[in-house]
Amino acid sequence: MAKIGIFDSGYGGLTILEAIRKQLPEYDYLYLGDNARAPYGTHSFDVIYRYTLEAVNYLIDHDCALIILACNTASAKALRTIQQKDLPEINHQLQITNHQSRRVNVLGVIRPTVEAVPTITKTGHVGILATPATVSSESYVLELEKISYSPQDGPTAKRSYSANGLTAEGGLVVTQQACPMWVPLIESGEHLNDGADYFVDKYLTEILAKDPQIDTLVLGCTHYPLLLEKINRNLEMSRSRGLEIKTIAQGSLVAASLADYLARHPEYRDQLSLNGTCHYLTTENADRFSQSASLFLNSPILASHIDL
Ligand code: DGL
Repeated sequence: MAKIGIFDSGYGGLTILEAIRKQLPEYDYLYLGDNARAPYGTHSFDVIYRYTLEAVNYLIDHDCALIILACNTASAKALRTIQQKDLPEINHQLQITNHQSRRVNVLGVIRPTVEAVPTITKTGHVGILATPATVSSESYVLELEKISYSPQDGPTAKRSYSANGLTAEGGLVVTQQACPMWVPLIESGEHLNDGADYFVDKYLTEILAKDPQIDTLVLGCTHYPLLLEKINRNLEMSRSRGLEIKTIAQGSLVAASLADYLARHPEYRDQLSLNGTCHYLTTENADRFSQSASLFLNSPILASHIDL
């Protein structure tokens, strides 16, 4: 029987895993953090694609039937190529080598997040906080383009908008902000310290200066919920200036989307084992990962080291 694989460049995917396990506790999970090579968000397409494919192959080799790229950077840069180019060949090989019919699929985190945006924003002005790689991919912008939105009619009537904060025809206005220091702060365990406030304030100030009407900020990186306390405290100051800004974290959205996917896809669901277990793998030092992950998850875990 098979597991659900959850992959991230590091600790960020734990925010997704936690929400998924809350909603779908019955399944067995294998978490893989490529901490040794994080952050991914400042790498080029080729590198992010290669690293992500290595992780996906590892999880498939270790009995995962469904893999969630719990990483926006990997979802933005590698998911489409893996789905279109690599998975058909991988599934073909699995059919040949396995007596039982085994099929695998890989899913991302951007689409489920984007679908929530029109139900939350009231001004239609939306900010995307993400890694430099996710921002440059324009994945959020491209996905938001497929979503219908009208400030008057709610999320049903199609409107158009442009990516750089200049609205066309009064629809969603999307402004992106790269936050290159946030993942390194979290990976190095500095995110709760006072020094992190400087970089939280820097990027929030920059994006709100680009578009002061933003009322919805998407945390478009799975690491960022670990900075949520500082982000919300900073946004409280904007609130006192008369701005009500909501943040969208991805965990519960991805979990709901996975539950829906499993309900619609018995070909994957029926392969999954139901023992409620979770194992943790890291490409970094296992003790260090176990210590930090236990803090993030508020419960003790024991990770193993692997090489990709
Ligand atoms: N958690 C990853 C994401 O969602 C972080 C990427 C990185 O390692 O820079 O984008």
